[in-house]
Parts: sequence; C-alpha cells; structure tokens
Amino acid sequence: MPGTEIVRMARKAGIMTAAASSAPGWKTMANIAAAGLDPSDFDFIASGDDVKRCKPDKDIYALSLIKLGVSEREAVVFEDSKAGIESARKAGCRTVALMTTIDGASAYSAGADAVISDLSAAVPFSTPEEAEELLFPLQKGSGTVRYGANLIRPLERRMPDSFIEKRAVEAARKAWEHGYAPYSGFRVGAAVVSAATGRIYPGCNVENSSYGATICAERNAITTAVAAEGVIGIDLIAVYSDDDPPAPPCAVCLQVIAEFARPETRIVLASPRQAPVSYTFSELLPMPFIFPTMR
Ligand code: THU
Repeated sequence: MPGTEIVRMARKAGIMTAAASSAPGWKTMANIAAAGLDPSDFDFIASGDDVKRCKPDKDIYALSLIKLGVSEREAVVFEDSKAGIESARKAGCRTVALMTTIDGASAYSAGADAVISDLSAAVPFSTPEEAEELLFPLQKGSGTVRYGANLIRPLERRMPDSFIEKRAVEAARKAWEHGYAPYSGFRVGAAVVSAATGRIYPGCNVENSSYGATICAERNAITTAVAAEGVIGIDLIAVYSDDDPPAPPCAVCLQVIAEFARPETRIVLASPRQAPVSYTFSELLPMPFIFPTMR
C-alpha cells in the first residue's frame, strides 16, 4: 500500500490520526501491521467491534471524531470503498477517495470531495495547511470571465456538473431545515457554488416581525459567500422549498444574483417530492440591470 507514511507525517505536522475500519479488531490490527504501521502511530483505532452499525452508517467515524476530540469540519477521511465514503459523508467529514479500489466517478457519486490515485499523492507536507493545499487545491484558472458586474477566474478542474448539483441541492435542503418563517410558514433554503473555488455556501430565509425586513434564502446564501470570499462568481445556485413545482427565486433575488452570475449560470429548483428542475439564469432573468460603469 503506497503512501502509508502519511500517518506518521500527519502526526509530525501536529495532526491527530485515527484508523477506522469495519473489520473486527484482530483483523484491523493485522491490516495496520500489513500496511507497515504500528498501532502506536494512531491516536485512536476503531474497529467493527466498537460499533453496532458498521459502514456505511456513520457510527465508526462519529466515534473516531469524539475520541480525537475534533469536529467533523476539521477532519479528513481517506477511503477506498463506497460504503466507507458514505459513512464518512454521513459523519460530516470531507472525504478523499483512493482510486486503488474505486473509480473516480463512483467515488464522486458516493460523496467524495476529492479523488487521488493512492495515498502517495497526498504527501509530502509538513504543516496542516500544506496538507490541505495538496488535497484540496484552490486551482488557479487560466482566464477571467465576466460574471455579472465582475471578472472572475473560474476553476479549471471542476467536478462533474451532476455532482456539483447534487451537493448544492443537499446544502440547500439542509439550509431549508433552518428556514426562519414563523409568519408565512414557507421555509426556503439556498446554496451558492462559488465559481473561483467550488465552495458551497448555504442560506435560508429569515423573516422578521416587521415583514418587509425579511431576507430571502438566495440573498442570504450570496451574502454569506461574499463574506467568506469577497467578490464571487456564481457557478450554480440551488433553491429548495416545499412547493410543487419548486419555487424560483423572487425578482429581487434574481437582480442580486445578476450581480455575480453569467447568463448560463444554472439555477436548480428542488423540493421534497420531485426531481430538481434546472434553468439557466438568462431563462429566469433575460435582461438584468448592471450598472453602466461595471459592464
Ligand atoms: N422567499 C425566499 O426565501 N426566496 C424567494 O426567492 C421567494 C420568497 C421567502 C421570503 C419569505 O420568508 C417567504 O419566502 C414567503 O414570502
């Protein structure tokens, strides 16, 4: 198994490590030895003996996070099986799939965030930041493209469209659960995919006692993305509501989207009961207003 030195390298870089396997304890230990590692290389070892529900349930990773005392957002899981990727995803961890035993397309559709040939592609590094850059490079695009009122350098190596859409819809659905709509009772969730980084930012509607102070989910997601990255280009925006057909962005939100979108930016509308429907931005707002000096 190439690249297993990553475990010791991680520890040197101040990163905690755990081995999490559905195999019984004795087999997990044998596998660690066969990989040229020692149990003492890990801060925690979870085996199938430690949980009732093995992968693809999340328990083994949830347990590992608790034992390491880290949040799911701080953790990165390396997986070489579909069940393992699903398990890590359910636990909320970012997952890097190894193509030693699974192909890239299956890995992405199981929910992997990155795919590498084997562990040796994830070394060397000497700090957590270097490891992050190796695994999740913020790829530099080749040229700038106009997104609404802004020039943005989009990602060169994007994930497949279907994968991006699935992830964005799921983020919008999660945000929808947080919709604050005590007056209308109509919750809305949204998720913006940043063209320059591929990162996904969620937003939900937040109503107000003074009704007009209400903010829509789409604008919430966009302002969240701008707060994180500065100016953004919108690669895709997903909107989730419990309506059939699923609700489109209101005209105010379309104008806000116009500031950061291209005519071909996809707007994906989703709801609990039917398959998502995809539009281009220009279908929903053919003639957006952009301030003359910004065009
Ligand atoms: N709403 C959105 O969040 N997005 C839209 O584009 C349409 C409307 C919210 C605002 C309000 O909280 C509720 O839906 C009913 O208007």
